[in-house]
Amino acid sequence: MTYKVLATVNHKSLDKKNIKQFKSGALAVAVEKASNGNDFVKHIKSTFFSSTKNQVIAKTIDKAVKDVSSGNITHAWVECPNVKINKILFIKQPDNKAELRKWVEMFTRMVSLANAHNEKELSIHLNDSIISNPFENLVEVAARTVESSSYKFNQTKNKTVKKLPLSKVTFTSFQLSASESRNTSAAVKKGYAIGEGMNATKFLGDLPANHCTPRIIESKAKQLKKIFPKLKIKSLNEKQLAQLKMGSYLSVARGSIEPPRMIIIEYNGGPKNVAPAVLVGKGITFDTGGISLKPSGKMDEMKWDMGGAASVFGVMACAENRPSSKATKPGDVVTSMSGQTIEILNTDAEGRLVLCDALTYVKRYKPKYVIDIATLTGACVVALGQHASGLMSNDQKLADNILAAGENTFDRAWQLPLWDEYQSCTKTNFADLANIGGSGAGTITAACFLSRFAEDFKWAHLDIAGTAWVTSPKKGSTGRPVPLLTEMVLSSK
Ligand code: BES
Ligand code: MN
Ligand code: ZN
Repeated sequence: MTYKVLATVNHKSLDKKNIKQFKSGALAVAVEKASNGNDFVKHIKSTFFSSTKNQVIAKTIDKAVKDVSSGNITHAWVECPNVKINKILFIKQPDNKAELRKWVEMFTRMVSLANAHNEKELSIHLNDSIISNPFENLVEVAARTVESSSYKFNQTKNKTVKKLPLSKVTFTSFQLSASESRNTSAAVKKGYAIGEGMNATKFLGDLPANHCTPRIIESKAKQLKKIFPKLKIKSLNEKQLAQLKMGSYLSVARGSIEPPRMIIIEYNGGPKNVAPAVLVGKGITFDTGGISLKPSGKMDEMKWDMGGAASVFGVMACAENRPSSKATKPGDVVTSMSGQTIEILNTDAEGRLVLCDALTYVKRYKPKYVIDIATLTGACVVALGQHASGLMSNDQKLADNILAAGENTFDRAWQLPLWDEYQSCTKTNFADLANIGGSGAGTITAACFLSRFAEDFKWAHLDIAGTAWVTSPKKGSTGRPVPLLTEMVLSSK
């Protein structure tokens, strides 16, 4: 499934010669601290507002720039009647040394201010401190942020609910060399695509569980083939999962009337002799806990328990976890595809039960590495909150690359140890492994369990329980960790 919100996001190079032709609905200009406007602002002023008729506007612009740059106010709108630029939004720009977060916040505010002003079109000027920022991919982050922050979930509301007004964003840059201009356009295009990917992930997550079952995800995945003919899309049903001997995976779906689906999206567009990167996502479309039933408060949030699957092109391990007379019971022992038997002491620790069989399955790809992505443990929310995804890995180089991808995209992860000492937590008298450990380090226990199924390849596990969605007041999906994953895959490290 694809999910573009903005109709266009593109880049336009301007130079002194063609600035007269420049036309814009609203124009957003970031203002540096203690500056009296950059070259671009000066040029706009002398081109459009030099006549006596427009002197008042020229003065208003000077004042707005002064007030914003001194920090008196955070932003100012200047209305510009009679010219091709309708209005200009001056907005405070973060310091040069500021973290990426501040920039993301600024671009998000530009979009929300434009929407609040009912603007359909917005130009955002990329000044020198954006183009040649120490964050090399700041333009990409800008484009991604405008697309992803334009997302609003309306699907299950009355159809008269309006979309946000903003639909077209043009990034302008002033006097770039031909190669700088090409790079900037490429970065805008890439960022827009990543933003769209985040929105597709958000949309699947935000859909209520009765609108997003394993079979619905399957049909949405299959539709992708029409848009991207290069993709290969397979789906395994209950019978096929049984033929593969995925006893662990199937034990999760047993209690539900909704049948499971393991959906596999393959992209073979990379170089022929390079091993594939494999992403595996937890796709529990609703997690009631099963017989180990969850408390009812906030249980609705378990519609997001497929956030891992929604964030990948790869393996989506989908199932619904429900209690019933057919459901798996605490103490039941099942046999996984790897041959290892598992005592299911808690049916609410179901994510690892679908993922372990999916991990065994992906061995056939002889992967360069495997990353699984899962809303796996409440303990991860306790440990890291909503800002960092939990990262655990059997290969430090892979872990380092993932951490760096997270830093570069402001979609950060934080590593937790997977030391041998923790492995004993899955011991039981009745099977090869138990699906829960003791009371401590729940996030690591879960990863230890998974590591027993990932011994044949380089593997990392991202616990996104705290990062995939936020609760009130802005309750909804975040689209994470799509920026981190795309950076990882595209950097081909
Ligand atoms: N999907 C939940 C984890 C979760 C809980 C994510 C709350 C986000 C918010 C997972 O399936 C689960 O229930 N895990 C249990 C594991 C426990 C039984 C060992 C948990 O975290 O309580
Ligand atoms: Mn659970
Ligand atoms: Zn779950």
